[in-house]
Amino acid sequence: MTAVFDVCVVGSANLDLVATVARLPGPGETVPGTSYAEYPGGKGLNQAVAAARAGASVAFVGAVGADAAATTLLSVLAADHIDPSYVGIAALATGRALIGVASSGENSIIVVAGANGTVTADDLPAARVVLTQLEVPLPAVARAMAAGRRAGAITVLNPAPAQPIGAEILQWCDIVVPNEHEVELLGGVAHLLALGARAVVVTLGADGADLHTAEGTTHVDAFAVTPLDTTGAGDTFSGALCARLAAGDDLPVALRFAAAAGALCTTRAGAVPSIPLRAEVEVLLNEA
Ligand code: RIB
Repeated sequence: MTAVFDVCVVGSANLDLVATVARLPGPGETVPGTSYAEYPGGKGLNQAVAAARAGASVAFVGAVGADAAATTLLSVLAADHIDPSYVGIAALATGRALIGVASSGENSIIVVAGANGTVTADDLPAARVVLTQLEVPLPAVARAMAAGRRAGAITVLNPAPAQPIGAEILQWCDIVVPNEHEVELLGGVAHLLALGARAVVVTLGADGADLHTAEGTTHVDAFAVTPLDTTGAGDTFSGALCARLAAGDDLPVALRFAAAAGALCTTRAGAVPSIPLRAEVEVLLNEA
């Protein structure tokens, strides 16, 4: 019998090279770093881990190189019980992200795609929810969303990092999860709903999120936490949201879980290591 995954994530996997700084440097400026660490990351891998830790069965569709960084990232898939069968090994270096994290928790990121640039999404497993973002080639994003829609999955796009994309991708997306900057670049909420999205979830960082549908707008409250490092919080929100949608939650219920998961992610350092387990999220939900 063919397995049907709860969530299929098509996306990037990076090794994150992270320096903490008192404040992020401006153009042409050098600032002293206060610490350095390497963490597994990449928007796609973060989202896959977030969905898995929220309780979903997950397949990850991506690509890594034949190098030591790949070994680190593949070990994350194994540890989080994510199916690695759809990860290609490319003749390019595994993706790298150079990340500065300021004492405020804000970051700035440079991504070198490497192997991520070879992701095609030609071969996708069956899944209840298909989730992708914009750190792999856009034709792969379009293929993933179209294939997911045709197979009857819920298709979810996190359009990050911000870049303009058109109907060739957006027409296939049931739910779009941009931040405030990304939604403007995509033409606004009304445009996304007109292209066929049944919901647009605009994430607002520490202010929570707004859920827009044809019926109107509702606000999703944030969870009050003290942020240490916001890296991966948006990915955690999207991955956790998809896990709960696959489990059958209504969108408002799934969004509350996603907001709690995203908030917890900001309280710890690094991308993958900071993504919470379902039990941790439930503690925060019960405290609120
Ligand atoms: O969203 C956070 C992620 O963006 C990091 O893990 C980094 O790899 C970049 O892809």
